[in-house]
Amino acid sequence: MRIARHLAAVAVPVALLGVPGAPASGLQHEGHVMATDSMGVVWRMPPQPIPMPMMLPGLMGAIPGVTPFLPDPGRDPAMLPEAVFREVVKMADGDTLRLEAGFVRRTIGMRTFTMYGFNGQYPGPLIRVPQGAEIVVLFTNNIDLPTAVHWHGVRIENQFDGVPGVTQDPVEPGESFMYRVHFRDAGLYWYHPHHREDIQQDLGLYGNMLVDAPAPDYYGPANGEDFLMLDDLLVDEAGLFPWGREAAIQTLMGRFGNQLLVNGESRWETTVRRGEVRRLYLTNVANTRTFNLVLEGADLKLVGADVSKFERETFVSNVVLAPAQRYIVDARFGEPGTYALLNPIQAIDHFNGRFYPHTDTLGLVTVLDEPVTEDHGAAFSTLREHADVIEDIDRYRAEFGRPVDHELELTARVGDLPSDIVAVMALDTLYFPPVEWTDAMPMMNYLSTSENLTWVMRDTRTGRENRDIDWRFTAGDVLKIRIHNQRRSFHPMQHPIHIHGQRFLVLSRDGVASDNLAWKDTTVIPVGSTFDILLEASNSGRWMAHCHIAEHLEAGMSMVFTVDPG
Ligand code: C2O
Ligand code: CU
Repeated sequence: MRIARHLAAVAVPVALLGVPGAPASGLQHEGHVMATDSMGVVWRMPPQPIPMPMMLPGLMGAIPGVTPFLPDPGRDPAMLPEAVFREVVKMADGDTLRLEAGFVRRTIGMRTFTMYGFNGQYPGPLIRVPQGAEIVVLFTNNIDLPTAVHWHGVRIENQFDGVPGVTQDPVEPGESFMYRVHFRDAGLYWYHPHHREDIQQDLGLYGNMLVDAPAPDYYGPANGEDFLMLDDLLVDEAGLFPWGREAAIQTLMGRFGNQLLVNGESRWETTVRRGEVRRLYLTNVANTRTFNLVLEGADLKLVGADVSKFERETFVSNVVLAPAQRYIVDARFGEPGTYALLNPIQAIDHFNGRFYPHTDTLGLVTVLDEPVTEDHGAAFSTLREHADVIEDIDRYRAEFGRPVDHELELTARVGDLPSDIVAVMALDTLYFPPVEWTDAMPMMNYLSTSENLTWVMRDTRTGRENRDIDWRFTAGDVLKIRIHNQRRSFHPMQHPIHIHGQRFLVLSRDGVASDNLAWKDTTVIPVGSTFDILLEASNSGRWMAHCHIAEHLEAGMSMVFTVDPG
């Protein structure tokens, strides 16, 4: 209803507006019609990532039906403190952390932006705690939007889960909230806002948490550790590409960035010695991008996932990581040289119906021709079986064959999108990739908002959708949930489904049983696929389950379920 088109009469060319931070030469969109908010933030045409004829004549000059948002656009980033690289904060049981979300100046590549940071850092502080510890986090919101902090994957007490509208009220600018975070599971977690995270997380509000198990040999031996938070950011000549103020834009595919980031930097670089084993803690914090990581020159061993290790270690050639997912991977560098961390993907040209390969370089590893002092080569080449994980899962194997308790269908419903888009989308669904690795239709994505497109989780038995779904469990219940990602929908896309407060096993994909399990909190369901998961409902409270593509969450794709105390 609110797609504003043909605004020539009221809009001002971007050149006349003096976009904050815009270099004088960066006005490539001169001549396009633009709209502005009271702060002078303008919509501009989205960057076209690849040379493709995606500009439909009927959509020329169209802009989203919401106001463009940039963080504090009146502020000169030069007046802000430059963000510093994250610190590792080692905490013990009972310790307190002060955590502030605030404005920072960020320099990415050669450019300076006003962004957000936790404690002035990028990424946020890396919180490292022993398993079983409980910490207090005194959070203060000093950004210009209401927010809250969610401790992703931590099976926390419900009232501290950080979900506005479900477990707390949003923390208004200037206000504070106290979280008590108890870490019962070892492994890799992360924290991020759960309120307009399409904006806030994208602007830098995310950090890792590592929970160390007491056993020193919980993982195999390694010479060092690296924490890689994978992200992307959408920029054009004028600066950060605006977000939607009243509602999210880019709800069709989510907001793909054109600048890939590792730990907030455009390139990750490290130097290792020949034979070194590095443990890589990988977290995808992007709004929508799924990464396919390849580390040249290294052997990779997959060790752990979201909430536990795998039953068995396996050697892998690549690691696919959807938003919010974590993997723990050991890498061994056997030969000297310089090797790239790559993201090779199959991009799609929707108009010509063709896939083509595309590779981005995320980092560089220099392997010195100097042997590592402590060589863990023998241990690395041995694939360990994790008896602790197997025994833990053994308690649930009898339930693997149980009938399906609940079924969800994932689909989209279109509201008042421009008819040009609807027509093109009908064409588009004739050929579709199981995973969208990149934004092949930025113009259509740009015009999709949470007001004209709804992403749907539908309970197939009751017909209820999204927040009308009302599942009720009792702590101790074990449930089989079947999730089907509809191939024939308006725009099929993969969905990383995240369940709060609990943990689950992916039992099967399209009828093929998993042969190596790990406890998960997020699993990505490709287009057309059906997953059976086994949910351990052990943590009482009202919890959210949702797609972790930030814009899909904003566009409706969430539900709430209740676990009553046992
Ligand atoms: Cu990463 Cu609902 O959360
Ligand atoms: Cu989704």
